[in-house]
Amino acid sequence: MDQEKASAILSSIEMKMSAVLERNHGKIPAVARNGKYDNRADESIRWDDDNGIAWWTNGFWGGLMNQMHVLSGKGYYIEECMGSEELMDRCFSSPSFMGLHHDTGFMWLPSSVFRFVLTGDREARRRGLEAATLLSGRFNPEGFIRAWNADGDNLRNGWVIIDSMMNISILFWASKETGDPRFRKIAERHADSVMKAFIRENGSVRHIVEFNAETGAFEREYGGQGYAEGTRWTRGQGWGIHGFTNTYLHTGESRYLEAAKRIADSFIISIPENALIPVDFDQPETPWYEDSTAAAIASSGLLTLAEASGKNEYAEAASRMLDALSSKRADLSPETDGILQKCTGSYHGTNDREINFTYADFYFIEALMKITGQYIRIW
Ligand code: GLY
Repeated sequence: MDQEKASAILSSIEMKMSAVLERNHGKIPAVARNGKYDNRADESIRWDDDNGIAWWTNGFWGGLMNQMHVLSGKGYYIEECMGSEELMDRCFSSPSFMGLHHDTGFMWLPSSVFRFVLTGDREARRRGLEAATLLSGRFNPEGFIRAWNADGDNLRNGWVIIDSMMNISILFWASKETGDPRFRKIAERHADSVMKAFIRENGSVRHIVEFNAETGAFEREYGGQGYAEGTRWTRGQGWGIHGFTNTYLHTGESRYLEAAKRIADSFIISIPENALIPVDFDQPETPWYEDSTAAAIASSGLLTLAEASGKNEYAEAASRMLDALSSKRADLSPETDGILQKCTGSYHGTNDREINFTYADFYFIEALMKITGQYIRIW
């Protein structure tokens, strides 16, 4: 995709988002079904329910607002992001705190940290540092950041998920911001453990790994939102490409660049002819579910990886996916909420297949802004 085309799509997106914001001001949407957003800040959702204000994607609404501000310079987008951060402040106090997991990077990087970068607002900085501190508190000195809290009797003390490679960017930011190396050291220890335990012989990444919480030894892998245990959940591959590339940029350590390239090489040879990405590269032909989030996340990661590695084939693969998304899966109408269609939370989910997610739109826009040269690096 060339710069002119990406720029034209971004203009249409900004026009759409201005109308979308008018309809949804004061909400924190996560999902659009039939062109209508939900609202995760709805006070009727229990405070300790992690589908509510502590939902892992809540920072992407503010993130979309920040992106729109970069594209248009309009102040009301920044105001909306700030309002969403104020709503999310409920997470820093009990009982919503109990709904927080390792996703504090996803929650406060696109929102607060991005807005801090744009405006220098000290409250946004404070939120980013609180989020980084909470994430650091999940570090097990055996070398990994614990993903989730206990689920009933299942303590999940040693569980780690590939998505965490994105969340650690907030630790690198916090170290730079404060001059304190602790955050960065935790991020590097975690990245090394993920690199060792998650990347398979064929270059694909596992979804969830359980480490022994006392010794740090690898115990086993689990399937999750993909087709089955041992298969290639595409969004996870995307998190791996994006996350290891960012970790390389933060540290300059070539082992992370090599990890990102291995995952990317295994991803790009599996892209289907039509460049629309399934939920899992190993899913059966029927039922066939797509996941546009995987395409958007991988595209954004591949664009940066192409620059970091000097290998243009990564940018070409991203371009094919972005062309397919924009021509077949992007709803640019101002009348409806949500841009990318056919986003899937989980292959076996009942209520989250082939809908729209705010974070898909965020990464789609991020990739387009990389092409137009308007991307402001936050990861
Ligand atoms: N972080 C969960 C997911 O990617 O669906």
